[in-house]
Amino acid sequence: MKTLAVTSGKGGVGKTALACSLATIIAQDGKKVLLVDAQFGLPNVDLYCGLEMGCTLGHVVRDGRELRDAVMATDAGVDVLSGGSGWKELSLLDSAGIAGLINSILSFGAGYDHIIFDCPSGFGDRVNPILEASDGLMLVSLGDAASLMNSYGMLKTSWEIKSDLKAGIVVNRVSGAAQGKQIAQEVQGIVGQFLSRELQYWGSVREDSHVGKACMERRPFSEKYPVAGASQDMIDAANCVMGGEVDETVEVSFLGRLKSKFNKGEVAADLQAEAA
Ligand SMILES: Nc1ncnc2c1ncn2[C@@H]1O[C@H](COP(=O)(O)OP(=O)(O)OP(=O)(O)O)[C@@H](O)[C@H]1O
Ligand SMILES: [Mg+2]
Repeated sequence: MKTLAVTSGKGGVGKTALACSLATIIAQDGKKVLLVDAQFGLPNVDLYCGLEMGCTLGHVVRDGRELRDAVMATDAGVDVLSGGSGWKELSLLDSAGIAGLINSILSFGAGYDHIIFDCPSGFGDRVNPILEASDGLMLVSLGDAASLMNSYGMLKTSWEIKSDLKAGIVVNRVSGAAQGKQIAQEVQGIVGQFLSRELQYWGSVREDSHVGKACMERRPFSEKYPVAGASQDMIDAANCVMGGEVDETVEVSFLGRLKSKFNKGEVAADLQAEAA
């Protein structure tokens, strides 16, 4: 999957935290990743990745600067495009303006293995052009009724906008894998019944204080705390996004996979300390 939209029906469910960690894991696996903060004008990716804004998408739109000038690289090797905070030139873009910007980003991103859009929640003029441009949709949902209801609505509309979008759900802030799977199965059942469509299960991420801690420390949680539970879960979700299946044997195999994925046979001292 080349272009992925990370979306949700409700706001505040963890899209940006998960998108930053997803991009980090894929980059650490040797792929070239472009992460686009599509909250144009109200960005958070820079904050969650510890980036200092220089030239931004605001400068691209207002001053005609080149997209390559606006790329910022994270410590883990993810390239990021972000809008800068409070730019009216970005917040006032109409749907044609957003579509034009997305098209430029797609052309610019041709050399990347994956382009990930961290979208605003819901749909509308600022999100629909991204859905149209995407191959896949990662739907982030919590397990409460309101979040699940809006997830259903988000999927229904997304497929109306682009019928061949490949969609997967990641259930965030669960107590464990069993709860995540059960919630996902309920949504899958409703989607199958009322939309006659297949919603894939791309995993769940447990409630984990390391996520908020990493946000405060301005690093993706999977980079800062790679052995934390949420980071283990995110590796499995990334594997699903890349076309694999949910690994039911996560506890047994995680350290082995961590070694091979993250660091050529070495687990850094701080990871060992945390694992102990
Ligand atoms: N698995 C988790 N465990 C604990 N805290 C989490 C988890 N996932 C997200 N959070 C916390 O939830 C808050 C919201 O996360 P985030 O900003 O990523 O949501 P969002 O969906 O991008 O919000 P918005 O819709 O405003 O863009 C953050 O404080 C984050 O630390
Ligand atoms: Mg966000």
